[in-house]
Amino acid sequence: ALRCYLSVLKAEAKRNLAASAEITVGLVPTMGALHAGHLSLMQRARQENDIVAVSIFVNPLQFGPTEDYQQYPRQLESDRQLCEQAGVDIIFAPTAEDLGIGERVKGDKGEGGDKGDKGDKGVITTYQLPTTNYQLTQIIPPPEMTSVLCGESRPGHFQGVATIVTKLLNIVQPSRAYFGQKDGQQLAIIRRLVRDLSLPVEIVGCPTVREASGLAMSSRNQYLTPEQRERASYIYRGLQHAQAAFIAGKRDRQTLLTTVEQVLALAKGVAVEYLELVHPDTLRPVNRVEEAGTIAVAARVGTTRLIDNIILRDR
Ligand code: PAJ
Repeated sequence: ALRCYLSVLKAEAKRNLAASAEITVGLVPTMGALHAGHLSLMQRARQENDIVAVSIFVNPLQFGPTEDYQQYPRQLESDRQLCEQAGVDIIFAPTAEDLGIGERVKGDKGEGGDKGDKGDKGVITTYQLPTTNYQLTQIIPPPEMTSVLCGESRPGHFQGVATIVTKLLNIVQPSRAYFGQKDGQQLAIIRRLVRDLSLPVEIVGCPTVREASGLAMSSRNQYLTPEQRERASYIYRGLQHAQAAFIAGKRDRQTLLTTVEQVLALAKGVAVEYLELVHPDTLRPVNRVEEAGTIAVAARVGTTRLIDNIILRDR
């Protein structure tokens, strides 16, 4: 149905253009609970394409067994309104079953499986998730990119992301797909995936959108109390201090990371999981920034895990 609707929209768009013109489709993959960060991706896609599609799918493949798959915010109706305001043409909100993921174990609500997505009738359908015993063919990006940074504490996460993104690209077949720098490791892995598999799509990276405090917008910020939000804003403050040091000529790993650490130490209750300086494309550790480096951080504030990063580059 999606492909059918896409071809109708393409035919419509074509009527207004020269016969030879290529109709472009921009895809913004999301897990919903949309915020200004997602919106910036949609706006960029709107500027650059004839047709804009947004996918909304809370992907079970990228959540670990102890992670927040069940609690992850699901708010399709408000997401729909936001997409409409942003001039999105198509919302693709498949169920796990539509995507051929997991085995349906119950058609109605009940125990015995992980709760999946709401089907057409608003009934919770349960799925046996791959984290239990379901096996599927997965996309396995290079381990040196998926086992570092977030991959260290989230084994299987980026394989789950790569698999679902490949599926979404195959289904929608967009000209361009939009991803946020907020998830810098994800962006680097997807760029690599598209290059390695020669997928016919242009990956567009978009800047991180932040709250007034500097805190990177995230669907998970909903979990934070006002006091935790205040503490969480030290993460970006730390990154900004490192950027100032970089601009002042500091290039070595130790100096740059210590600068971030010193700021984070001022915030009580920000438990750093990792703080790293890596190359933005390869994600390999960098001892001295030559042409570019990314400082990436993951920290827990309460039980909420937050990530952020900043790219250091000579202009
Ligand atoms: P989700 O976390 O919903 O994010 C969807 C897209 O929005 C990602 O490309 C993410 O980097 C971007 N984004 C999130 N917060 C942002 C911010 N503050 N500024 C700019 N962009 C931001 O990332 C995922 O979903 C999933 O892993 C997905 C790619 C959809 C695969 O399931």
